[in-house]
Amino acid sequence: MLYSAIRKLMFQFDPETIHNLTIKGLHFTGNSPLKAVYKQSLPEKPVEVMGIKFPNPVGLSAGLDKNGECIQAFSALGFGFVEIGTITPRPQPGNPKPRIFRLEEANAIINRMGFNNKGVDYLVDQVRQANFDGVLGINIGKNKDTPEENAKDDYIQCMRKVYNYATYITVNISSPNTPGLRSLQYGEALNELLSALKSEQKALAEQYGKYVPLTVKIAPDLTEEEVNGIAQCLVANEIDGVIATNTTLARDKVAHLPHGEEQGGLSGMPVKDQSTLVIKQLSVALDGKLPIIGVGGIHSAEAAKEKLAAGASLVQLYTGFIYEGPDLIKDIVQSL
Ligand SMILES: Cc1cc2nc3c(=O)[nH]c(=O)nc-3n(C[C@H](O)[C@H](O)[C@H](O)COP(=O)(O)O)c2cc1C
Repeated sequence: MLYSAIRKLMFQFDPETIHNLTIKGLHFTGNSPLKAVYKQSLPEKPVEVMGIKFPNPVGLSAGLDKNGECIQAFSALGFGFVEIGTITPRPQPGNPKPRIFRLEEANAIINRMGFNNKGVDYLVDQVRQANFDGVLGINIGKNKDTPEENAKDDYIQCMRKVYNYATYITVNISSPNTPGLRSLQYGEALNELLSALKSEQKALAEQYGKYVPLTVKIAPDLTEEEVNGIAQCLVANEIDGVIATNTTLARDKVAHLPHGEEQGGLSGMPVKDQSTLVIKQLSVALDGKLPIIGVGGIHSAEAAKEKLAAGASLVQLYTGFIYEGPDLIKDIVQSL
């Protein structure tokens, strides 16, 4: 009820302007007693995944808090875990504006942000200042101007810098807005990347005396054969988990709507079924060998349960959270 009024007001503004204002507000209040205003105390629904204890299985998906400025605020809102990023080694501006569009009739968003972020050193500073003791995922990527053949170096550089601060690290190879990134999802390119990251993880585990799990985030725009290929490669390289899925390039459900043919990744309700299908295919291919984090079009407790039934152990929200607000977290947690 209250959120629907807030949303009405927020949706009067250009999406990126209101996003930036909200991040500023959450940053400012999150590290102060003011966060009591929006704090939700939810029932504990503990789950253990990848050796990590989650207070509840509903997380914030990457991209909303790219620079890790609102960790305490999102935790106060009730998320059982917070994934920040995608972060790149060096700061970069992202694509020209406008680059984010609401498709209200479809409960959806199209974005082509292009990993706009303040760089990994800034993010690490934010994490230090937040002094957060909950579950924190840090999602890493490559700079746009790093040649594809050197992508691995960017991931390794980020891994080294965030390792000591993350509860788990996500390797994002599925943003549609960084040219060439998705080609890392296939064949030898994937194998080479994952084996290099696995070696680095082993070295860092020794250096810091702790094991930080690695997850890989994949696209929804994959054939079953491609999903099987990815699953095999994740298992062969002893990756700890997989996040399915990122945004889609498909436009069949929205092409007729205003902004429906903007370039970028489509998220929200129109990606729900394709993301669930990928989770089902992964679940069969992985046969329990590694856990799946399900994300894409969760706008209700029912939709979250669908992801869990398809084989996910945890879920994440982005677009559903924008449209439904913090009640969505509560509804899902209470329904479990
Ligand atoms: C504006 C916007 C920015 C995003 N940025 C990132 C990002 O930086 N890294 C990432 O892994 N996913 C990013 N995503 C994808 C989401 O984390 C999520 O995987 C996707 O939107 C599907 O979930 P949803 O339907 O709940 O939004 C972004 C999504 C949106 C809408």
